[in-house]
Amino acid sequence: MTQDELKALVGQAAVAHVVPGSIVGVGTGSTVNCFIDALAPLKDQIAGAVSSSVKSTERLLALGIKVLDANEVSSIPVYIDGADEIDHGGHMIKGGGAALTREKIVADLAERFICIADASKLVDTLGAFPLPVEVIPMAATQVIRRFGQAYGGQAQVRAGVTTDNGNVIVDVRGLQITDPLAMEAEVSQWPGVVTVGIFARHKAKVCLLGTPEGVRTLT
Ligand code: 5RP
Repeated sequence: MTQDELKALVGQAAVAHVVPGSIVGVGTGSTVNCFIDALAPLKDQIAGAVSSSVKSTERLLALGIKVLDANEVSSIPVYIDGADEIDHGGHMIKGGGAALTREKIVADLAERFICIADASKLVDTLGAFPLPVEVIPMAATQVIRRFGQAYGGQAQVRAGVTTDNGNVIVDVRGLQITDPLAMEAEVSQWPGVVTVGIFARHKAKVCLLGTPEGVRTLT
């Protein structure tokens, strides 16, 4: 099976985790696009969606799915989103699509984070995928310098990308994230950092992993 077929498989499988009559949290990316497409036929069975990006909002609306502002919602039962890497404990690197800040906001509203990913995303230790960090533009150089001092990674601003919130993304290569919870807590405090793409406090409760043998459920 191709990677796209595996993404379609888990996108479809995620529909079974949507709670009828509820508002569903919707992430961002190519795997989530498969989920949105699979959700469309059930649009009358949900109260709507809270979206984590302009791109996902546009796709949801184009398919006739109602989108609510996160400010209108106090809690949602499930948030369904992809990941760039996920470890066996459900900790993730996210932000390859630059939507990490809104993704963490919607994840925070949710009781359960359901991660959907093809099998290539499962790793023993996070860090082979460059860690995205959303940064206020005037702090970019300071954050890059600080990464070098604190963790020894090579950080650089992602060229040509402005987030939905008007900020830049700093990608950090060469990390071995052995304690995701501690690193998320530390980097989140640095001045100018809006969001670090480590999802450890908001880790996945369930991961639907697309494999050539079918969907593997990790809990
Ligand atoms: C976007 C994300 C995505 O979930 C992540 O990049 C995975 O994307 P894809 O499903 O296209 O592989 O974090 O900010």
